[in-house]
Amino acid sequence: MQKDADKSLRMDHYRKSGETQAGGYKAVADRMKEIAKQQAMATANMMKIKYKLAIMSSKGGVGKSFVTSSLAAALAVLGRKVGVLDLDFHGPSIHKMLGIPTGHGMLARMDGTVDPIEAPPGIKVASIGLLIPKDDVALIWRGPIKAGAIRELLAYVNWGPLEYLLVDLPPGTGDEHLTIAQSVPKLSGFILVTIPSEVSKSVVKKAVAFIGKMKVPIVGIIENMSYFRCPHGDTIHIFGKGAAKDIAEEYDIPFLGAIPIDPRIRECNDAGKIFFLEYPESEAAQAFRDIARKIMETVEEGKAKIPEIEEE
Ligand SMILES: Nc1ncnc2c1ncn2[C@@H]1O[C@H](COP(=O)(O)OP(=O)(O)OP(=O)(O)O)[C@@H](O)[C@H]1O
Ligand SMILES: [Mg+2]
Repeated sequence: MQKDADKSLRMDHYRKSGETQAGGYKAVADRMKEIAKQQAMATANMMKIKYKLAIMSSKGGVGKSFVTSSLAAALAVLGRKVGVLDLDFHGPSIHKMLGIPTGHGMLARMDGTVDPIEAPPGIKVASIGLLIPKDDVALIWRGPIKAGAIRELLAYVNWGPLEYLLVDLPPGTGDEHLTIAQSVPKLSGFILVTIPSEVSKSVVKKAVAFIGKMKVPIVGIIENMSYFRCPHGDTIHIFGKGAAKDIAEEYDIPFLGAIPIDPRIRECNDAGKIFFLEYPESEAAQAFRDIARKIMETVEEGKAKIPEIEEE
């Protein structure tokens, strides 16, 4: 019962923040003041977290959320305190991949802050998917409402002591990406995800161009669904070969590693089990451990670089 009250409180809060955009000068002035206050709180809240990484692709369905959840688990197993912020408002899924059902809720405190939910092995999760009551609720939000929701999530989530915040982004180079690139202070960088196909490569290049224009570093690129190992030993490149390495070479971006296609990944994600923890000895889990170590080395030693993009 308490949980339900908390959930409705948060959804009302978002509805209200949209409504106040209309109205007279006083309403606009009040709203501007509120936005400035939230922005200051967001900056202060984010400054408490050492390393902030955003996982991006531009291309949909390439495994961004799976990669984000697996990296979170790998970093946590390697001893880091990790949080995951889901900014895919229109298709939140990472909470489920981490075993938390839609509509679970987040505890809203009297001071207006909210507590993230903890998933194994100690990953803190904040997502709009926890606040909507069920999967078939669609959030029909224009850009300013999304920017406002992001600002509030950055400002009001009580992450506690955290070393890494991983932000799961939707496809594209839209409002969510722009807001994150512009409003997270000291963003450590973006991690790019592609599958090996030419189509994916051509779209992921847009992400590189976007990040270059935002003057934010790229930590590296991961190739997901890279190959499939047949039970009788052959390796099949179902989606082609080499997109991530090609992009890495073309833009001088570190290639972080390749994750194979494994049907158990899809099964675990659908069942709300964390693949990385269920199959720690699998090739994919080992690849994630190596990638997590490379990420730690790059960001903790401040080695990530802003990509150089030729202006047209
Ligand atoms: N390496 C893999 N092997 C097998 N299945 C995978 C692999 N990576 C991801 N999947 C599956 O592919 C689907 C898409 O993955 P996911 O949702 O992580 O992609 P996404 O890029 O986040 O999508 P969106 O663009 O909608 O946010 C999911 O069903 C997931 O379980
Ligand atoms: Mg996703």
